[in-house]
Amino acid sequence: MLTIRRLCAGDVPAAVAIVRASPDFFTDDVPGHVERDCARHGGWVLADSGAVADSGAVAGFAVVARKSAAGAEILWMAVDRPRRGRGHGTALLNHALDVLAADGVSVVQVKTLDESSDYAPYRATRAFWGRKGFVHVDTIDPLPGWQPGNPAGIYVAALRPTR
Ligand SMILES: CC(C)(COP(=O)(O)OP(=O)(O)OC[C@H]1O[C@@H](n2cnc3c(N)ncnc32)[C@H](O)[C@@H]1OP(=O)(O)O)[C@@H](O)C(=O)NCCC(=O)NCCS
Repeated sequence: MLTIRRLCAGDVPAAVAIVRASPDFFTDDVPGHVERDCARHGGWVLADSGAVADSGAVAGFAVVARKSAAGAEILWMAVDRPRRGRGHGTALLNHALDVLAADGVSVVQVKTLDESSDYAPYRATRAFWGRKGFVHVDTIDPLPGWQPGNPAGIYVAALRPTR
C-alpha cells in the first residue's frame, strides 16, 4: 500500500534512483540537483509499506521550495516508471498542495519542458500539469541553469484567490 509522508534524508538515494531510471525525462545533471534540493528544501514521498527497503520502497517523490510567504515552487517530481498513470502522482501532488495551502501558500509554480521542444515524453507531463490545474504562463529559452536546447515552460496554479 502506498502512503504519503515527508521526505527524509534516507529517501534521497531512492529518489535519485527514480530520476536515474528516467533518462528520457531528466538530463544527467539532475541527480545532483535533486540531492542538493532534497537537503535544502524537503518534500514528500510515496512510500510503499509492502516493499523491501532499497527496492521500490519509495514509489515517487516531490521536492518543493518555499519562495516567499505565499509562493512555492515544485522543483522536482517523479513517480517510479512502472507505477505511472495510476493516480499516484495526483495523490502526491494533492497532498503537497493541501499542506502548502494550509501553510499560507496561494500560488505554486512548476517549470517543465516547453511544448515548443516537441519532445514526445514530456507531452504526458504537460498533460498531467494541465489536468491538475496548472496554467502555462511563459516560456523561457534558455533558462539559466538548464542545459541548452531545453526551453522551459512556466506553469502556475492558484491555491486560493490573490485579489
Ligand atoms: C508526471 C508524473 C509525476 C505524474 O504522475 P502519475 O502517477 O503518472 O500521474 P497520474 O496517474 O496521477 O495522472 C494524472 C493525470 O495526468 C493525465 N495523464 C497522465 N499521463 C498522460 C498522458 N500520457 N496523456 C494524457 N494525459 C495524461 C491523466 O489523464 C490524469 O488526469 P486525470 O487525473 O484528470 O484523469 C509521472 O508521470 C512521472 O514521473 N513522469 C516522468 C517524470 C516527470 O515528467 N516529472 C515531472 C517533471 S516537470
